[in-house]
Amino acid sequence: MSNTVVMGAQWGDEGKGKIVDILTEQADIIVRFQGGNNAGHTLVVDGEQVILHLIPSGILHGSKLCCIGNGVVLDPVVFLQEVDKLAAKGINVSPGRLVVSKKAHIIMPYHRLLDSAREAHKSKADKIGTTGRGIGPCYEDKMARVGVRASDLTDLDLLRAKIERALVEKNVLFEQLYGAKPLDAQAVFDEIRPAALRLQAYLGDVAGIAGETMAAGKNVLFEGAQGTHLDIDHGTYPFVTSSNTVSGNAASGSGCAPNTLDSIVAVVKAYTTRVGAGPFPTELADEAGNHMQSVGAEFGATTGRKRRCGWLDLVILRESVRLNGPTGIALTKLDVLGGLSELQLCTSYKYRGESIAYPPLEENGLADVTPVYESMPGWSEDISGIETWDAMPQAVKNYVARIEEVLGVPVSIASVGPDRRQTIMR
Ligand code: GDP
Ligand code: IMO
Ligand code: MG
Repeated sequence: MSNTVVMGAQWGDEGKGKIVDILTEQADIIVRFQGGNNAGHTLVVDGEQVILHLIPSGILHGSKLCCIGNGVVLDPVVFLQEVDKLAAKGINVSPGRLVVSKKAHIIMPYHRLLDSAREAHKSKADKIGTTGRGIGPCYEDKMARVGVRASDLTDLDLLRAKIERALVEKNVLFEQLYGAKPLDAQAVFDEIRPAALRLQAYLGDVAGIAGETMAAGKNVLFEGAQGTHLDIDHGTYPFVTSSNTVSGNAASGSGCAPNTLDSIVAVVKAYTTRVGAGPFPTELADEAGNHMQSVGAEFGATTGRKRRCGWLDLVILRESVRLNGPTGIALTKLDVLGGLSELQLCTSYKYRGESIAYPPLEENGLADVTPVYESMPGWSEDISGIETWDAMPQAVKNYVARIEEVLGVPVSIASVGPDRRQTIMR
């Protein structure tokens, strides 16, 4: 394998965790490059399910080194809880196996509080439906150049001073805008201190490790979180997350040069889902939507919310191809479509009297498009046990061929169930 990026092409939950787990076999190290514990990546191995929020999805493979890059925002308490959970399953999560970039930003208790206070304060129409994990406020502090970085956890005086300074501003918001109690700097420091001390052993130079790995002719697998249409720049702004989710950020979010990214795997769910608020042109409120939701078990892996479901939208995917440059597509959850007699594929939109092939650029323009569909016959067979592409029903082959034709990218991996072995490499 070459250095490979795995990223989501829709609104998240495409099955990135499963694909990273599979590709880990051919990688030497795995680096998560953005997002935080807003993510929920599910792996199923021999029937046993593991949900990861922060730790890279390569962790189930023996001794492969798993890294958290500078582009990630890390909640130390959540990270250590995840470490303990995996350790209890007998998985090696020692500091020698798991490295956090000293440049990663730390999610502080006041970030979580600000996230939920701000959401609660918004009108129904303006609520983003965030995961409430403090992601946006932490990235805000990073950009405002007042954030706490992982390396600060080794300098407790600096950490204490940064908390003090941050609260000067945040407490004005809590008290005077959101009607919440102000936070006490010493109490915040005391709350974070035990995790800070324990996290120190995990800190390292992720960019350096990745660079050395490549220099030795070995391979790096970059793990993305969320999806292209949740990207802060390219997504359905303002109903997005606060990081760049596109493939290009694999380089800056891990400290590697862009020309080291050899292949890019876009993970695409065979239909579309979205959690939280925001426009969703192909969303369904009918039997087909219920089928996807229930057969696909579409509940958020982080918040447990029901995921909204709809037909495959090739317009947003065409945009994802343009933004990410995928060398291959991993198409997941094909099995879930079995039993639907007819499938709809959205190939263009009607927008302000015109036909468009890409999403509009105006804020919330996507809420004003009318999807244009083409229809294809579905299949009734259960394909979850099929192991070769040749053995697939013709209707499945036709559906996949049409996707490849419209997007101009080969489907190199087809997934027909949650388990690691329910995967066909083409
Ligand atoms: P991620 O955030 O992109 O890693 O995706 P999630 O883990 O949040 O959501 C994907 C869900 O679909 C998980 O519950 C997976 O176990 C499951 N899954 C992944 N691939 C398949 C598949 O091909 N078929 C079915 N039925 N489930 C799948
Ligand atoms: P994975 O990696 C799906 C959504 C939230 C909300 C918006 C902003 O599992 O695919 P945030 O907490 O990031 O400020 O919330 O983004 N969201 C996700 N939706 N999958 C995810 O991650 C998501 N991470 C954030 O629901 O609409
Ligand atoms: Mg998820």
